[in-house]
Amino acid sequence: MHALLQERLEALRAAGLHRRLRCLPSAAGRFVEHGRTVLNFSSNDYLDLSHHPEVRAAARRAVDEYGAGATASRLMSGHLPLHAELEAELAGWCGHEAALLFGSGFLANAGILPALLRPGDRVYADKLVHASVIEGLRLADVPFKRFRHNDAGHLARLLTEDADAAGLRLVVTESVFSMDGDQAPLAALAEACRRHGALFMVDEAHALGVFGPEGGGLCRLLPESLRPDLTVGTLGKALGSYGGFCACSAKLRDYLINTARTFIFSTALPPASAGAALQALRLCRRDEPGRELLRRASRFHAALRAAGLPVPAEAASQILPIAVGDNVRAVALAEKLRGHDLLVTAIRPPTVPPGTARLRLSVTLAHADADLDHAAEVLARCQHEVQP
Ligand SMILES: Cc1ncc(COP(=O)(O)O)c(C=O)c1O
Repeated sequence: MHALLQERLEALRAAGLHRRLRCLPSAAGRFVEHGRTVLNFSSNDYLDLSHHPEVRAAARRAVDEYGAGATASRLMSGHLPLHAELEAELAGWCGHEAALLFGSGFLANAGILPALLRPGDRVYADKLVHASVIEGLRLADVPFKRFRHNDAGHLARLLTEDADAAGLRLVVTESVFSMDGDQAPLAALAEACRRHGALFMVDEAHALGVFGPEGGGLCRLLPESLRPDLTVGTLGKALGSYGGFCACSAKLRDYLINTARTFIFSTALPPASAGAALQALRLCRRDEPGRELLRRASRFHAALRAAGLPVPAEAASQILPIAVGDNVRAVALAEKLRGHDLLVTAIRPPTVPPGTARLRLSVTLAHADADLDHAAEVLARCQHEVQP
């Protein structure tokens, strides 16, 4: 490797920011390795649907009927009935008129934002939005302002400052934040958008399947007049598959088909992923498994708090961060937990702001109450064994 690249890699190592890949026998929330049961708190398979028999059967049927790949971009060779069916179902689920599939949630954000924005337009993003939103904003090449995390008053002030500006205005946030597990004040943000004529885009990656009627997300709890113009979602978390999508009006969908480069110049979703996601979505709508997930998460949160672990005061979702601060200590704690068969990821900058390294635990339906009680006990012990 070039000496300069080697130097840059070493700098990451010195800052406690080096990352490495590991191979595991399974991606499930609970699996057996070398004869021992491992509890995986790092997966986003919140509803344990990636291994659901009906979801796996749907993926197999899709492969048998349509083959392993979609073979080209949809604008080149069209799409399959399965893609159309999935889009119709996703639209209804999120309470929009239409939906458009992307290769992943990352590709949705990275494609939609540059498609919507032109020089002279203005963007306002929550301080903690996901890297894929930042990537989309970088590609859009327009200056963007960040409002303080979950601070609708700050957003309103920024919009007021720019009241006379021409061009499109767009506000973007997540509904459940990926690394903090907290919820955005969606109604207040939407009201500010409506007052100032700004488009409102919400990434529901971590809320879909978990919150709202039929698991259709937090935006479904808003009155119609405050619903976002665009909802972005992923098929790779609660739906246990792979892919991403945007739900919006039919006209906006048509606009994105014609302008979003990550849609236009990329192969359509593989049939197996679409088939699996469609079945998972139907299970979510029918059984609302998110309710049970939230019950378990809240019980686990209470156990962590009782054990004196630095979790947030409220369990706002199935994502529970444990504050650590120091990068090296966060990694040491994660390694210690691994020795006790708990797979927990240390989250460090740039994923989170400097000085806020943490352990991020996602509760999934693969974790029984007894598993969660055991995990809380092990976490309580390990936090004292790894020195600050
Ligand atoms: C908020 C948010 N948006 C988008 C994505 C990207 O989704 P995908 O994994 O489908 O690319 C993620 C994934 O980590 C996310 O947390």
